[in-house]
Amino acid sequence: MSALYNETVDRFQNYVVPTYAPKQLFVRGEGARLWDDEGNEFLDFASGISVCNLGHCNKRVTDAICEQAKTLVHVSNLYMNELMPRLAEKLIKESFPGKVFFSNSGAEANEGLIKLARKFGNATGRNVIISMENSFHGRTLATLAATGRAKYRKGFEPDMPGFIQVPFNDIEAVRKAWTPQVCAVMLEMVQGEGGILPADPEYLKELRAFCDEKDIMLLCDEVQCGMGRIGTRFAFQSFGVQPDAFSMAKAIANGYPMGGFVVAEKYADILTLGNHASTFGGTPLACAAALAVQEAFDKDGVLENCQREGAYIMERLKELTAGFPCVKGVRGRGLMIGVVLDQPAGPVLELCLKRKLVALTAGETVLRLLPPLTITREESDTAIERIVDALKEFCAK
Ligand SMILES: Cc1ncc(COP(=O)(O)O)c(C=O)c1O
Repeated sequence: MSALYNETVDRFQNYVVPTYAPKQLFVRGEGARLWDDEGNEFLDFASGISVCNLGHCNKRVTDAICEQAKTLVHVSNLYMNELMPRLAEKLIKESFPGKVFFSNSGAEANEGLIKLARKFGNATGRNVIISMENSFHGRTLATLAATGRAKYRKGFEPDMPGFIQVPFNDIEAVRKAWTPQVCAVMLEMVQGEGGILPADPEYLKELRAFCDEKDIMLLCDEVQCGMGRIGTRFAFQSFGVQPDAFSMAKAIANGYPMGGFVVAEKYADILTLGNHASTFGGTPLACAAALAVQEAFDKDGVLENCQREGAYIMERLKELTAGFPCVKGVRGRGLMIGVVLDQPAGPVLELCLKRKLVALTAGETVLRLLPPLTITREESDTAIERIVDALKEFCAK
């Protein structure tokens, strides 16, 4: 290991709160490639957990950030900057009529959804949100309470009240859990951290109808599965079911920290003056980056590439791992792909890294692949070869 690597590990251990255990040092990125400090090149099938969806240092985004950083970085929401409403207009035109609130992260975006639903519900004495088992919505106290995996909440009790979890993809469970106190249902259309589990489109249609029947809000967390990841600009567009509000973050500005939510017209004026705010929400710098991301979706064939390469990688992985004893299947949508294993997936990451491929896990037993949506066919083929080789070694152990 290099001197820089060793020094960085030392500093990390001495000065950083030990909530992470990073394995590899990277010093540069370009497109779907990352480099360590010794010049070793890696293929990135993680995209910083679906953040750099346009690849590292995308030219449009980098140029927009540099230009805006020289012009105006921040003025606060007490004053107007022209980019924030411009970005809101673009997101609304691409999704559905309504309004947008900007924040900084996925958890904060989901906190906004929760506050929105509570304000809506409290007007009629309702404040309970049904969310899904196995879901992930963030690490703040409200989003932890919404998250359907108890391990994340352990040690941080008491849980924030007002949440009920039900099994995912089970409409009867939602019907049974409903009480007159329920004001919303919240879910990821493709569960990410939970193991790359797509919702059943029929279930979503029934859920939409149930929310309409009970006059409760359907909230979608698009933090991971949105922003082109599953082949449409917004995840709900892949399923043909429109939520009442959805959150965005991660890839919205391709790595510049940003989050937010879109709320449909019917609910767009529930949050009123002074109800909600965020110092950094919608700064000119963040909005410039996010507008460049939208421009890339419009002009660079990103979504088409995601659909094409997603279908190809999924098909090839299915074919090439069909006889592997430890592989139970391959699932996902677009470039949100999970290889389901019969045992904990953690050790596969090491085997992939050894082959210069960066990947992720999800749930306990899923190898999660989230390459940039701009990946080329040649990069897909190289990555497939490395993944299959790593899985071969893993299964032989
Ligand atoms: C679906 C989903 N929601 C929310 C979050 C939280 O986002 P952040 O880490 O930006 O707060 C994540 C992060 O992985 C996520 O995948």
